[in-house]
Amino acid sequence: MIKKAVLPVAGLGTRFLPASKATPKEMLPIIDKPLVQYAVEEAINAGINEIIFITSPEKNSIKKHFNKNEEIESKLIKSGKKDMVKKLNPEIFSDITFYYINQEMQNGLGDAVLHAESIIKNEDFAVLLPDDLFFSKRSCLSQLIDIYDNKKSSVIAVNKIDKENIHKYGVIKPGNISDKFINIQDIVEKPSFEDAPSDIAVCGRYVLTSSIFNHLKCTDFDKNGEIQLTDAIRSLIKEEEVLACLYEGEKFDCGSKEGFVHATIALALRDESISEDIKKIIKEII
Ligand code: G1P
Repeated sequence: MIKKAVLPVAGLGTRFLPASKATPKEMLPIIDKPLVQYAVEEAINAGINEIIFITSPEKNSIKKHFNKNEEIESKLIKSGKKDMVKKLNPEIFSDITFYYINQEMQNGLGDAVLHAESIIKNEDFAVLLPDDLFFSKRSCLSQLIDIYDNKKSSVIAVNKIDKENIHKYGVIKPGNISDKFINIQDIVEKPSFEDAPSDIAVCGRYVLTSSIFNHLKCTDFDKNGEIQLTDAIRSLIKEEEVLACLYEGEKFDCGSKEGFVHATIALALRDESISEDIKKIIKEII
């Protein structure tokens, strides 16, 4: 059973400066909910009950956000706004343990995941990159866990990408392909167009066996001085089966401004309380 999830949130968020100067990028809202909360809800709805943020000391507002705020709760109740309490202190958070571990140096995604070892120990676990926002009937993480429950192997979410954007992602070399999953033969981090082994890119959800920690410890820094999770997975493949799940559903890359705005527009058009007004506004602008 996958009960623990790691959410790396220590990045500087430079693409969103100046917005990310005093507010962590992960706390910027898509409509009225911070980006990171979408990934947290996805994790909880997939059965996770311990969430480990790999964060930095400046990002205290993330901790504040997931803590229960009893003071505002009682103010809301006193002023007759009881219905807002479920937005302030969502019930689904009440049984969850949140951990906050500081990643002192910007040493990459692999290093961030390795920081969670002291809490995860020898359990298999999930990793969710909050920049990637997914919407589907069965959530992306649940799709991975379905395969994990059956195979007990690491499973990575992947999707097909236009080849000209392949250099932004981890890319798999597929082996056997069944209707449920793909056997990964090899994986490379951000290859050039020419070197990419396929057009199947890693998106930000993983279920990993705990053996990944040993591989992370042996992974060298890359040319940018980062320890890549992809490189550790590459090494894991030599010892264990690693599978990919072709994710079925929508994905927004909220790590880029275009993706962030795209997600905001798409969600606004689905939000019954504002969609009609938003449609009018869009028509006027066009
Ligand atoms: C990370 C991973 C990459 C993956 C991507 C998905 O890259 O290193 O393999 O494809 O997330 O969003 P980043 O976007 O953090 O540079």
